[in-house]
Amino acid sequence: MLNKKTVDDLKDLKGKKVLVRCDFNVPLKDGVIQNYNRIDGALPTIKKLLDQGAKVILCSHLGKPKGEPLPEMSLAPVAPALSERLGVPVKFISDPQVTGEETRKAAADLKDGEVLLLENTRYRGEETKYGKDEAAEKYAEELAALCDDGIFVDDAFGTAHRAHCSNVGVTKYCKENVVGYLMEKEIRFLGQAVENPVRPFVAILGGAKVSDKLNVINNLLDKVDTLIIGGGMAYTFLKAEGQSIGNSLCEEDKLS
Ligand code: 3PG
Repeated sequence: MLNKKTVDDLKDLKGKKVLVRCDFNVPLKDGVIQNYNRIDGALPTIKKLLDQGAKVILCSHLGKPKGEPLPEMSLAPVAPALSERLGVPVKFISDPQVTGEETRKAAADLKDGEVLLLENTRYRGEETKYGKDEAAEKYAEELAALCDDGIFVDDAFGTAHRAHCSNVGVTKYCKENVVGYLMEKEIRFLGQAVENPVRPFVAILGGAKVSDKLNVINNLLDKVDTLIIGGGMAYTFLKAEGQSIGNSLCEEDKLS
């Protein structure tokens, strides 16, 4: 059983603002989206909210701009792609401050059934520092304040391993916090796969940093028949086994 409230637990949404954390971290090449899976994965939750007459405010990170408003990491290309799929206009505010004056006005002016997409949450360096400084706390509060009805939906499964302002921080300032359909689906699937797997059970992990995944690896080791590690982090393991990895990515402090 899922021990979380979901978007289905939200009632009487007509005219209410809902802040949705999506994972629109799409691959981009020269400003063109190369793969739409992340956008398509977010649609069921957004459609459900729109069908109920909510005013939908979407936020996401894209890449790692580290507090710099880098144009190549703008979420601008996501707005038309979403709009086409949802069949409604998606307003996008090019705002390096993410929660600046123009964005606050756009959020305040939203009408029932309208959608607003915020700029890349990582354009603000505070985003990744939640729990570490005052400025991050304030940023989380600013993001939540865009949604004065205090309703937050976390549907960013791909970002669920991060405790950032836009997924964890905002929950402190919103009254109702629930998960979206994508998050629900993934939690159910993972729960089933990990607790009651069909064997042989093989897990494949990738990603750049071992440090991000050590807890996951430790948890999986007791459960899987085989664990396959690929991606950038494989080199740290290879080096730990005494192999030569040239200039490949390595987290020296994790070798032990
Ligand atoms: C991803 O694509 O893995 C998620 O969006 C998380 O991105 P991050 O590794 O930059 O936090």
